[in-house]
Amino acid sequence: TESRLWGGRFAGGPSPELEELSRSTHFDWRLAPYDLRGSRAHARVLHAAGLLEDDALSAMLEGIDALEADVASGAFRAEPGDEDVHSALERGLVERLGPELGGRLRAGRSRNDQVATLFRLYLRDHARQVHQLVTELVQALASQAEDHLGVAMPGRTHLQHAQPVLLSHHLMAHAWPLVRDLERLEEWDARVAKDSPYGSGALAGSSLKLDPQAVARDLGFEDSSANSIDGTSARDFVSELAFVLAQVGIDVSRLAEEIILWNTKEFGFITLHDAYSTGSSIMPQKKNPDIAELARGKAGRLVGNLTGLLATLKALPLAYNRDLQEDKEPVFDSIDTLEVLLPAFTGMVATLRFDTARLQELAPQGFALATDVAEWLVRQGVPFREAHELSGACVRVCEERGIELWDLEDADFDAISPHFAAADGSVRDVLSLRGSISSRDGRGGTAQNRVTEQLAELRGRLG
Ligand code: ARG
Repeated sequence: TESRLWGGRFAGGPSPELEELSRSTHFDWRLAPYDLRGSRAHARVLHAAGLLEDDALSAMLEGIDALEADVASGAFRAEPGDEDVHSALERGLVERLGPELGGRLRAGRSRNDQVATLFRLYLRDHARQVHQLVTELVQALASQAEDHLGVAMPGRTHLQHAQPVLLSHHLMAHAWPLVRDLERLEEWDARVAKDSPYGSGALAGSSLKLDPQAVARDLGFEDSSANSIDGTSARDFVSELAFVLAQVGIDVSRLAEEIILWNTKEFGFITLHDAYSTGSSIMPQKKNPDIAELARGKAGRLVGNLTGLLATLKALPLAYNRDLQEDKEPVFDSIDTLEVLLPAFTGMVATLRFDTARLQELAPQGFALATDVAEWLVRQGVPFREAHELSGACVRVCEERGIELWDLEDADFDAISPHFAAADGSVRDVLSLRGSISSRDGRGGTAQNRVTEQLAELRGRLG
C-alpha cells in the first residue's frame, strides 16, 4: 500500500533523494503506541460527531488493536517508502481495514496536531520515569547521609579548606538541587497537561464539529489547546523539558566531579565498589571512576541537546514548518541518556565507602577553624573587622612555624592581642572540630541537630 498522505496534486512520486531526507521513521517510531492511542481517541470523536457509524467505530478500534499488536511484536514495521510514523501507521490501518474504512480516520486531523500531541504524551511518560530515577538518586544520597551522621569532613571554597562540615551536610547539598529538579519535572507536567493540540488540525482547527476537549480527556490531558496555531507550532514544552534534563545532568556532574577528586590518591576520601568502577587495559592496578566521568561528559551532551533545540526554534515563523521535525532527536537523546546514566550513577553513590577517619583528620586542618577564632573574639566584644585581622595574625604565626591553630600557646595568643587574655574562658574552647561544627546551629547550618532535622525535611520532600 502507498503510504504517502499527499499524492493527489502531484504528477509523480518524490525523488529518492527527497525520500531519504524526509524520512523520520528511524527516530519517530517510538511514538507509534502513542499515535495509536491518539487514533482511538480520534475515532471516538469522529463517531460522536456522526462521521463514523457504530460498526465502523468498532471495526476501526479492532483494526487499531490489531495494528498495535503487530507493532509490538515487530510484525508491522516501517518501510522505506513511509515518510514518518504517522504515515506508516495509516498505511497499516488501510492494509488491515481497506481504503474505505481505513481512509476515514484522517478526517479532521493532521500530522501537525497529531505529532504535537503524541510528542507530549511520550515526553510525559518519560519525564515521569526520569522523575523516578532522580528520586532514587536522592534516596541513595539520603541513605549515605544517614549512615554517616556525625562524620566531619573539610568543607571547601575555591577547593581550599574553608570550614569543617558534616559529611551528611555535604551529601545533602548535592541532594537539594535534584529535589528542585523533581519539582521542575512536576511543574512541567502540570503545564503540559493543560494543552492537548489534537483537533487543531493543520493549524486552523476543524470544520467537522469534533470535540478537542473529549480527545484531551481521553488522552489524559486536562484541557485542549486554546489556540490551534499555538497548539501545532509551539515547542517550548520540548525545550523546557530539555532544560530540566540538562539541569539534572549538570547537578549530577557536580557530584561526579567531586567523586572523581575524592577517589584520587591525594584526596583518598572514598573507595568505589568494584561493580561500579572499571580497570585499565594496560595498568593492572587501576580502578577508575568511569561512571562519574561519563556523567561529567554526558552533561555536555545534554546541554548540547538543549542548545540545538533552541537554535531550531529561534525565529521560526508560525505555524508548522518542517524544521520542527528536528525537535525530536535531541530530547529523545536526553531522555535515553539519563535513563541509562542515572541507574548506574545511583548504584555508584549507594555503594560508595568513605574513609571516615581520614575525612575527620583532615576536617580541621588548613586553619579551617580560623573563623571560629574570629567569632570567639566577636563574642568577647571585639568588632569583626578587628577579630578577622587578629585571627589572620594567628594563622600567619602558625604558617611560619608549620603548626596548626590549636598548637598555639597562651603566650602566642597574648603576643598577638590582649583581647585573647582579657576575656572569660579560653579561645582554645572553640579550637576543636566538634565545637566548631556544633556551634553552627542556625537553620541550614552544619550542626548535628540541624543536619538530622534537614535529613527528615529532605525525606519529607520525597513524599
Ligand atoms: N514528521 C513530521 C514531524 O515530526 C510531522 C509531519 C508533518 N509534515 C507535514 N508535511 N506537515 O514534525
